[in-house]
Amino acid sequence: MAILWTPDLAVGVELIDRQHQELFAAIDRLLEAMADGLGRGEVGRLIGFLGKYVVEHFRDEEKLMADAGCPELAQHRRVHEEFTADLGRLVAQLEATGPTSALAVEVNTRGAQWLRTHVMVMDKRVGEFLRQRPRAAR
Ligand SMILES: [Fe+2]
Repeated sequence: MAILWTPDLAVGVELIDRQHQELFAAIDRLLEAMADGLGRGEVGRLIGFLGKYVVEHFRDEEKLMADAGCPELAQHRRVHEEFTADLGRLVAQLEATGPTSALAVEVNTRGAQWLRTHVMVMDKRVGEFLRQRPRAAR
């Protein structure tokens, strides 16, 4: 089952939507690699890319929020930090156990499903706020 960005996830801010598409694609590649039984090295490389891209994306998204004076920034940043820490725990788990099916389940629930819910709820509110301030958002 592919992890896909779907148009209902659009927040209406080009940079954020583009990065979200890339994030979903990165999670999808990671889960595909695990489903195909690829080894620790390749799975580690893909999870490493995801981790770096997540940090980059959160930084860009938070910068847009800060520039626009979004009141939810502090709370939103905390949620981003929790996710980044969680991803670090998945990397540690990968290092400890290798790419097991249990890890794939974790990537799915704590990665893909978390991201979908986060985009649907919190990022959509950010999109709405930024679109009311078009000069800061684009
Ligand atoms: Fe976010």
